Amino acid sequence: MNPLRILLLGAPGSGKGTQTSKLLKKFHQLKSLSSGDILRSQIKQESPIGIEAEKYIKNGSLVPDSIMVGIITHQLEQSKWLNKQSSWLLDGFPRTIHQATALHQVIKEKANFNLVVELDVDQNVILDRIEARWVHVPSGRVYSLDYNPPKVPFKDDITGEPLTKREDDTAEVFQKRLTKYNEEIGPLKDFYSKQGILQTVSGNTSDVIYPKLENLIVNRFS
Ligand code: AP5
Ligand code: MG
Repeated sequence: MNPLRILLLGAPGSGKGTQTSKLLKKFHQLKSLSSGDILRSQIKQESPIGIEAEKYIKNGSLVPDSIMVGIITHQLEQSKWLNKQSSWLLDGFPRTIHQATALHQVIKEKANFNLVVELDVDQNVILDRIEARWVHVPSGRVYSLDYNPPKVPFKDDITGEPLTKREDDTAEVFQKRLTKYNEEIGPLKDFYSKQGILQTVSGNTSDVIYPKLENLIVNRFS
């Protein structure tokens, strides 16, 4: 299999985290980075970045580009992922055109994306899901009381630790996140479309989307 460097785009609640977990089980060479998971773990640790980021996250705004570009490029460099042999997936970054162009400067020569996939899910379906979402912050594992419930109610399957609700999953804040996504996504899609690497997979459940996503990867990279 050729190296995969994937970006997952999609509205809040479209299933980026859920699809990432499935892909990691199937493609063992793949590693992933979720900007939201990094920020939530910084908030939990009450680090300076976490304290700053929480102000934005809890009201559904985006964390400023300068902070995000710094965090993610530092992580990519530290993890030694910036070479043509590594396979990795980013979930949640870049999500503004400014972030995309800044990241492009860092990765374009060493390890540019070779596939950007937009998860296209009806936004009315998404709103219904969010009430049922519970998360395990230390690992980023995501559950749904309806769709993929934990084996023991409200406990993480692997560690047994308690699950929590995200503070940005209230109906009001979630609606703001969706609106923000709709404002930012156009230029981002244009940017990757011009590079010839953008694909869209549509469907209202992860069970419909996942096989399409897996096929896309297998067809292009094996
Ligand atoms: P982030 O954590 O990235 O949140 P998001 O993009 O809003 O996306 P979500 O994590 O809410 O959804 P998801 O697509 O991962 O869906 P999931 O798999 O959980 O960002 C949070 C905040 O951090 C941002 O608002 C911003 O403030 C800040 N931030 C992060 N990155 C940033 C950046 N680059 N720049 C600036 N600020 C940034 O699925 C959703 C639910 O649906 C789950 O419960 C799941 O179990 C369930 N589900 C999945 N599939 C199905 C199905 N088929 N049927 C029923 N339920 C399903
Ligand atoms: Mg997520």
